[in-house]
Amino acid sequence: MCGIFGYAGPSCPAANLVFAGLKELEYRGYDSWGIAVDTNNHVATVKDIGKLRAAPTTLADSGLAIGHTRWATTGAVTHDNAHPHTDCTGRIALVHNGVVENYVELKAGLLQRGHHFASETDSEVIAHLLEEELGAHPAITLAEALRRVSLRLDGMNAVVAMDVARDELAAVKNGSPLVIGLNGGANYLASDIAALLQHTRRIIWVRDGQVASVSKDRVILVDAATGAAITPQVEEVAWDPQQAALGPYQHYLEKEIWEQPGLLRQIVAEGGAQADQLAGFLRAASDLYLTACGTAYHAALMSTYILADVGDRMAHSVYAHELAAFAPFMHAPQAVVALSQSGETIDVLDAVRAAHRSAVPVAALVNVSGSTLSREADYTLLLGAGPEKCVLSTKAFTAKVAYLMLAAGALGGRTAEMRAALSAAAAEMDAQRADGRLDTVRALAARIVDRAHLFVVGRGYCYPLALEAALKIKEVSYMHAEGFAAGELKHGVIALVEPGTPCLIFAPDGPDLAQALTTAGELKARGALIIGVGPQAHAVFDVHLRVQATGHAFPLAALPPVQLLAYHLALLRGHDPDKPRNLAKSVTVR
Ligand code: AGP
Repeated sequence: MCGIFGYAGPSCPAANLVFAGLKELEYRGYDSWGIAVDTNNHVATVKDIGKLRAAPTTLADSGLAIGHTRWATTGAVTHDNAHPHTDCTGRIALVHNGVVENYVELKAGLLQRGHHFASETDSEVIAHLLEEELGAHPAITLAEALRRVSLRLDGMNAVVAMDVARDELAAVKNGSPLVIGLNGGANYLASDIAALLQHTRRIIWVRDGQVASVSKDRVILVDAATGAAITPQVEEVAWDPQQAALGPYQHYLEKEIWEQPGLLRQIVAEGGAQADQLAGFLRAASDLYLTACGTAYHAALMSTYILADVGDRMAHSVYAHELAAFAPFMHAPQAVVALSQSGETIDVLDAVRAAHRSAVPVAALVNVSGSTLSREADYTLLLGAGPEKCVLSTKAFTAKVAYLMLAAGALGGRTAEMRAALSAAAAEMDAQRADGRLDTVRALAARIVDRAHLFVVGRGYCYPLALEAALKIKEVSYMHAEGFAAGELKHGVIALVEPGTPCLIFAPDGPDLAQALTTAGELKARGALIIGVGPQAHAVFDVHLRVQATGHAFPLAALPPVQLLAYHLALLRGHDPDKPRNLAKSVTVR
């Protein structure tokens, strides 16, 4: 889940350029970072613990440079374990994203053959294996050496290596994402396109089992298994750097929360054709499995309610990391719908591959075009939410639910109603922002900031909403927040409630309101602080977060208040809202 970046081009302050690239990748991991440049046939390196603060000033200009931002898997968060790693000669430097699952035995062999290790990482093993390969075969290219070494590595890996004796970068991809950027006279490598947009929109997606040799004026791709040449497929990406810029906002979380109403309007205006295609895919299936992880799973779960209610279709939601247990019972014409913002979440890719092994077709709802999921699915719906830079997923959740609402509408002959609901949710989000209602959220955050626990309760499609609200609060404020189905409360959970425990209750108008108010009363009887979220104020509420929306607009319109509650709790607790501890934007290791 690390971020890797490489540059091959005219000599320049390449360390600054790589540093800027790593800043765009920092949401992939921020335990430590490092940059290496080639100066006069010598590797010069700068590394540091923690987030990227200031570009290094000690590295000379260069035409060859690599960099890394780390999410620690093997080896603690230390200076020595920060990448780049070098070999014994100091000629080779490399950065790695993934896990070398057989590194212990490889390392044992290298130690026996006299290699010295500077770190505890699995990654450093690759540098020493390259050293041996090039030592034994001085005439081969770095890319050829990396190709041979890559065949000895187990696990999901993307590697970018630099050899100061050879004016090239070499890279290999097996599972972890890697993309090449072309910019006439300079070429770049990165874990995702976000880091390339400042340089180019012409890219090559490196596929699994491919090795690349990259220098300033050419890119060569070969098959890792055979060494056979591959013709690179150059694509033009739609995203532009402005979309990824922070603009007037302090944090990406705030920016992406407020991009939601515009996104809903865009989906209503332009998403019809995609939604109809998705409906066609769903209609053809006998049984439906919606699969995903984290926030995307909450969108899947919420969509099973909407498909049942609007589309008159039964659908099952299954965590992607749990789908394998059921795959043996899956067969055509059942179908899987995989939901993922990044399109690189390994558990989701595993679930898709399990479905394909059972000859079950897969539709993907994904935000990153060109991602592995978007390429492996049988039908891909691109969410069009633009770059989502904050580790917390917000607008991508909204886009997934919106498209499945439209598809459910198409299945149930209620498209106009769903379009109206999405437009109403967008209008309500704008109204919340304009009429000062959100001051209540800020005041609530200040009131509960020191609480250790918070519970979120919902019934029906507000149950997945409760799970999502709790996840946002957990992820960024580190407060223990838990979401429950209201019906589960009296079966044990209520034992956790003490005087003053904040309990957030979704109370939309409609068939579940009376029950929601009863639940609030039961919690209040145990001294809980009741935070009611809905169109009406009710006597049982200590705090009312007014969400003026009804029916299927409600679960989306209720998002900004709870997303902002998480945001303000994080700010009050002094946490980084965009890069919470221990997390990364896409989870590419199991
Ligand atoms: C959500 O805020 C988290 N970042 C996380 O739960 C995320 O939703 C999950 O890792 C799935 O990511 P994906 O949508 O990129 O597959």
